[in-house]
Amino acid sequence: MEPIEALKRNAALAAVKHVKDGFIVGLGSGSTIAYAIAALGEQVKNENLHILGIPSSYQAFALAVQNKIPITTLEEHPVIDVDIDGADQIDPKLDLIKGMGAALAREKIVAAASKLNIIIADEKKRVKVLGENNQPVPMEVLSFAIAPVMRSIEKLGGRAALRETKGKLGPVISDNGNAIMDATFGTIGDAAKLERELKMIPGVVETGLFIGLTDIVYLGTASTVEQLTQKRK
Ligand code: A5P
Repeated sequence: MEPIEALKRNAALAAVKHVKDGFIVGLGSGSTIAYAIAALGEQVKNENLHILGIPSSYQAFALAVQNKIPITTLEEHPVIDVDIDGADQIDPKLDLIKGMGAALAREKIVAAASKLNIIIADEKKRVKVLGENNQPVPMEVLSFAIAPVMRSIEKLGGRAALRETKGKLGPVISDNGNAIMDATFGTIGDAAKLERELKMIPGVVETGLFIGLTDIVYLGTASTVEQLTQKRK
């Protein structure tokens, strides 16, 4: 296993300790969460753990099926006991940029419905300020609104680009049938304000700024797994 993969796996193993028998579990998306879903699958099989998962994407759904984790829906369980997910950037307040896997809208809905939100990542995801290193804010946008949303992002001082697919010509389309756009602002001084401004633009379905949602981060480092906590707003 590549060293970076071991860091992700260690963070995932720390997070799954929060999952108890009978829990409804939010299943995030990405390469780090795959380790958590595999570990939960092992516990379901070997330790008779009874849980129901709510996947945040087609990828998470497929991983849950593959690892034999029974799944449910928000209709049946609108309150989730614990959500485990990855992130693209994590700042000192545990605010996040998410969505490089294009699952941000469902991920945010699952996070907002959860009593406890745990983020797992390798240490490279930790930043001083969101938007460092030209990290874009992924956004889900109605296809009908692509051009005006791009103009509005420019008026807010950003640069927007439609995310192109690798497997077909044209833009990445989310699991919800919408376009995915990446908006680059440079370092983001006030992420909560930017989030409010972006959400006010007609046609913006969701943004990858996750503000005040995270309770615990497990960060895999070379020597240990660091736990960072934050009292939720
Ligand atoms: C999916 O849309 C994202 O929010 C992922 O959770 C995020 O990109 C982290 O992915 P990795 O664990 O693969 O870095």
